[in-house]
Amino acid sequence: MYVCVCKAITDHQIREAAQNGALTLDDLRRDLGIASECGNCAAYARQLLEETIENQCKAAWDSD
Ligand code: FES
Repeated sequence: MYVCVCKAITDHQIREAAQNGALTLDDLRRDLGIASECGNCAAYARQLLEETIENQCKAAWDSD
């Protein structure tokens, strides 16, 4: 699903960026161009980023 229409960035690309180390919206902006034009995608992109990071932490915690 497209999250950022201006840059044609999908939720999958955002999750992948998070898995590769993106921690902030600025990281997504730098790596993917998220929220670099109209900005309408910023809130949902940040939510996806936070969910992905949280899931990664839970998975790491559960694997110990
Ligand atoms: S929808 Fe992402 S910058 Fe416009």
